[in-house]
Amino acid sequence: MTKKLTAPAIKARKSGEKITMVTAYDEPSARIADRAGADIILVGDSVANVVLGREDTLAMSIDEMVYHTAAVMTAEPAALVVGDMPWLSYHTTPKEAVHNAGRLIRDGGAGAVKLEGGRKRLDVVNAVLDAEIPVMGHLGLTPQSVHAMGGYRVQGKQAAAAYELITDARMLAEAGVFALVLEGVPDVLAEMVTAEIAVPTIGIGAGVGCDGQVLVFHDVLGFHDKRTAKFVRQYANLADVAVEALGRFFADVRSGEFPGEDETYHMPEESAEILRELSQASENLGGAGLAADSFLADEAMEQ
Ligand code: KIV
Repeated sequence: MTKKLTAPAIKARKSGEKITMVTAYDEPSARIADRAGADIILVGDSVANVVLGREDTLAMSIDEMVYHTAAVMTAEPAALVVGDMPWLSYHTTPKEAVHNAGRLIRDGGAGAVKLEGGRKRLDVVNAVLDAEIPVMGHLGLTPQSVHAMGGYRVQGKQAAAAYELITDARMLAEAGVFALVLEGVPDVLAEMVTAEIAVPTIGIGAGVGCDGQVLVFHDVLGFHDKRTAKFVRQYANLADVAVEALGRFFADVRSGEFPGEDETYHMPEESAEILRELSQASENLGGAGLAADSFLADEAMEQ
């Protein structure tokens, strides 16, 4: 059995070999991510955008996140699986946050949770950590704050805001998060945070200076034809591959080329013969009843 990566093992990778992280939302995507060598699989609330076709991540519920986390866990990945806490699952009370984080662990099977925000969420981070649940932080362009930020904008471009973010990162690291996602921030700022805190930073649109990088599965693989952010590098165009493959399938259906001999089940010729006679007899009698029974009894006796 492959050894499972844990939150402390990821934390110990600070300044070491770069950490690889990608999202996955179901069993096949988790298997692919794991086979490709992901250190961390994030069951991100970005599932809302890339799987459910929603404009933002805000409508995701804890039930839906548990559902996707459990689906990922059926792949039994060696990677650490991090369940993303959706909006409003940790914004009310620390007690509710612990309950919801616990659901991602107990019902979903995740090894850690991720939540967005800095000092504002410190009490929640502490409460979840107190419940022995490893927490990954997330600062910068935090998609759950889309309305408060006035859109998806790069954060920390001005010195004052950047300084606030460094302070938030320090507070989260001191509280005990095992890693910190930095999203949509200038490279210089990400480098400073990385140098400043004792836990790994994982960048997405944060330059090359982080301890690791994360991208969304469907973006990396070109699984959709939507516009992607500047920070996305697309390594394949699976949407085009899929359209081409399905097009060939449909063409084969239309031409009668599919299914062929290899994709077809057969019955023994004697049974086929009985079936033909049975069908003929029932047609002659104007109904299946008695004739069918006697033919089938004959067939059973012959076997
Ligand atoms: O939900 C998500 O996919 C994320 C990553 C972009 C970090 O939070």
